[in-house]
Amino acid sequence: MTDALENLTYEERRFPPSAEFAANANLKEDAYAAAQGDPLAFWAEQAERLDWHTKWDTVLDWSNPPFAKWFVGGRLNASYNCLDRHVAAGLGDRVAYHWEGEPQGESREITYAQLKDEVCQAANALIELGVKTGDRVAIYMPMIPETIVAILACARLGAPHTVVFGGFSADALASRISDCHAEVIITADGGYRRGSASALKPAVDEACDKVGIVRKVIVVRRTGSEVAWHDERDVWWHDLVARQSTEHECEFFDSEHPLYVMYTSGTTGQPKGILHTTGGYLVGCAYTQWGIFDLKPESDVYWCTADVGWVTGHSYMVYGPLANATTSVIYEGTPDSPHKGRWWEVCEKYGVTLFYTAPTAIRTFMRWGDDIPAKYDLSKIRLLGSVGEPINPEAYVWYRTVIGGEQVPVVDTWWQTETGAVMMSPLPGVTAAKPGSAMRSIPGIEVDVVDNDGQSVPDGSGGFLVVKRPWPAMLRTIWGDDDRYVDTYWSRFEGMYFAGDGAKKDEDGDIWILGRVDDVMNVSGHRLSTTEIESALVSHPKVAEAAVVGAKDDTTGQAVCAYVILREVAAPTDAAAGEALIQELRQHVAHEIGAIAKPRQIMLVPELPKTRSGKIMRRLLRDIAEKREVGDVTTLADSSVMDLISTEAKGSTD
Ligand code: WT7
Repeated sequence: MTDALENLTYEERRFPPSAEFAANANLKEDAYAAAQGDPLAFWAEQAERLDWHTKWDTVLDWSNPPFAKWFVGGRLNASYNCLDRHVAAGLGDRVAYHWEGEPQGESREITYAQLKDEVCQAANALIELGVKTGDRVAIYMPMIPETIVAILACARLGAPHTVVFGGFSADALASRISDCHAEVIITADGGYRRGSASALKPAVDEACDKVGIVRKVIVVRRTGSEVAWHDERDVWWHDLVARQSTEHECEFFDSEHPLYVMYTSGTTGQPKGILHTTGGYLVGCAYTQWGIFDLKPESDVYWCTADVGWVTGHSYMVYGPLANATTSVIYEGTPDSPHKGRWWEVCEKYGVTLFYTAPTAIRTFMRWGDDIPAKYDLSKIRLLGSVGEPINPEAYVWYRTVIGGEQVPVVDTWWQTETGAVMMSPLPGVTAAKPGSAMRSIPGIEVDVVDNDGQSVPDGSGGFLVVKRPWPAMLRTIWGDDDRYVDTYWSRFEGMYFAGDGAKKDEDGDIWILGRVDDVMNVSGHRLSTTEIESALVSHPKVAEAAVVGAKDDTTGQAVCAYVILREVAAPTDAAAGEALIQELRQHVAHEIGAIAKPRQIMLVPELPKTRSGKIMRRLLRDIAEKREVGDVTTLADSSVMDLISTEAKGSTD
């Protein structure tokens, strides 16, 4: 690193693009002015990236806010846009995905032509099972090529998919299947993670028993492990799909036809089914993939390390890259399997040029040491991206220096399941990026920070992050609950989308995200609801009451900390019994929601701090979990409670 930079704190550093990068960048400075001057004309221009069977007649219908319609009157097919048109343009032999399995030596290369054939076969298979346009199909899969095939086959038929992250429990899967009424599930016997096979099918069986609406389960054989089988319901993917025709004439759907539902945690126990529709969503993905990642599809090799079970996997592993005819990498497993250099080995093997990951992974690699990435040739990387949570400036500088060789732009992209695509980010060829800041909204989007009354705050102040105009990839509603859609996002501030994040503007007007202002936690870039975990804990017979907070964690950003009041009969007799019970409760949460929700720490306490109106004061619990001096307790009903809890907490911290 140059001396000039070394004298600055991490926050003070500025990283403009190199002259060469700037000269060749896809998005230039003038895009801001163009989009600002006439946003709808700007979006209409971005929509030309797609192939429309029937062109739209109105870019935006906002006559019934907050229910938006984009590219009204247009008709298109998402799968056609991701596959057929590229094959027709002569790109059939281009690699769509380099798939790398976790077990060493296993890999597969899939061209656009092959992917199109497999998607057509899978679409024909779904038709054979009676899936029709509009039917919901649940997908519960590991990171294998069939998962992408399944997603695109659903899109091809206009059957909205709901992909449920493979780490979620049977209960979480059941509640999602039931909420959107999916009668067909696509799954696998299991997948590979951390060096061994982990099962998926048993959770599907359990979920099916629970909801009783599932007609068909298609099972990919991945690990070869024994699975329970229900003859009328279950069918092997290889028996069903391989014998289908590779021809499928797709239908073209209205621009607003539902493309998928993705469940995400909110402030109540019930996850929200975020609905994305076809035209606007695909425009948002295609534009940002091209502009923010500076994608040159003929030469780049792109790798987004997200799991396909999250929105990042949808927008930036599937729809964005494929809409632009990108060559991508998908890797099945964890970064430490079979060794801690695995990701960098994969980058070297495929010559990755654009790399997109989450801060929690970056911090983990920092901890593992610079010598691990140093063993691999990462010189082809020309852009790095970060997403999912605030990136601390030190991790940003490490990422840029050690992985990016001090040359490459790092794009810190802020967005949400609800926004569908990137909303804030430096422009890689334009912005002198500040480590730790997502900077400002990208051309076409208008993000701001407002005070309690919805007034834009001056530079140097903080407030709530909002979006001031509708945008093409925005969610259209919460599945089956328009009221909750209006209440959650459009009622806090008149005419503005409320993101749920706190943020501040610095002296230059650049925005720094401070984290959630609601009861939503961010653990390793995954969104978890405090209420959902509390409900899971309270469902255990020994638990009387529970409060959950997200406490700062050096690796995962936040960690789940739970305070539990036991039922009197369940009081452990000694410390060992207490410890065993804590482990039992952690397991219980994993069983109810999934391992990602397992509390890092559970404290058994006699009381919880509450206001006089009976509301749990999470702020105080957070203070204890983060080992700070406990803050103001004057609104507590009984302030002596805090002494009790602090004493208990000191004794039981991991
Ligand atoms: C929440 C959305 C969409 C990507 C995956 C997460 C936080 C996301 C950033 C960033 C600071 C970020 C916010 C947001 N977040 N990206 N670059 N800097 N915070 O999607 O699960 O819907 O979570 O993740 O708090 O509201 P999600």
